[in-house]
Amino acid sequence: MKVMVVAGSAREKSNTRGLAQTIKNHLEQLGVDVLFFDAGIHELPIYKGGTEAEHPNVMQLTRYAEEADAFFVCTPEYHSGMSGALKNAFDFLNGDYFRGKPAMIAAVGGGGKGGINALNDLRTVLRALYAFVLPEQYITDAVCYNDRCELVHEDSRTKLNDMAQQLVRVTEALGK
Ligand SMILES: Cc1cc2nc3c(=O)[nH]c(=O)nc-3n(C[C@H](O)[C@H](O)[C@H](O)COP(=O)(O)O)c2cc1C
Repeated sequence: MKVMVVAGSAREKSNTRGLAQTIKNHLEQLGVDVLFFDAGIHELPIYKGGTEAEHPNVMQLTRYAEEADAFFVCTPEYHSGMSGALKNAFDFLNGDYFRGKPAMIAAVGGGGKGGINALNDLRTVLRALYAFVLPEQYITDAVCYNDRCELVHEDSRTKLNDMAQQLVRVTEALGK
């Protein structure tokens, strides 16, 4: 089984990357092949509907999305929405990549302000892409991370492990 894990922050020091890395480790312990796509490392051009789609990072994005049996998407909350970098990545994709595939979502908020708006935003966009977005979701606050952006909050790590297991079970139930 292949799961595409997406880290949706383009920041150099990113808590979302720490969140996605934790999920990657959990999934790998379950024997899953993880396709790790990071909006900061695999920087994409702005979607213009033209030749920028031939950029090697866009090709990697579309190849991963095509190969994936399921998705675990992580976003930061920026101004009550998902990051622009993540939305730009989705604009290179379409329903053919997501239709009938399960997707789990999680967010990082800051200063106790939230994360729920980013998740609602992300859920709406994934639904528009025909992903089968699971009802479970999770938010971590920036205080759950150390200064190397590693997720050190034990309850969050346990919950994300449960969610990784749930994603694997649903994906298997769908015949993958
Ligand atoms: C431009 C910007 C806007 C933000 N807006 C919000 C917000 O609306 N709600 C919130 O809970 N946190 C907000 N934050 C805090 C981030 O969610 C938090 O710093 C998070 O760790 C960022 O993830 P990253 O390090 O992966 O980029 C904002 C941070 C930035 C940089």
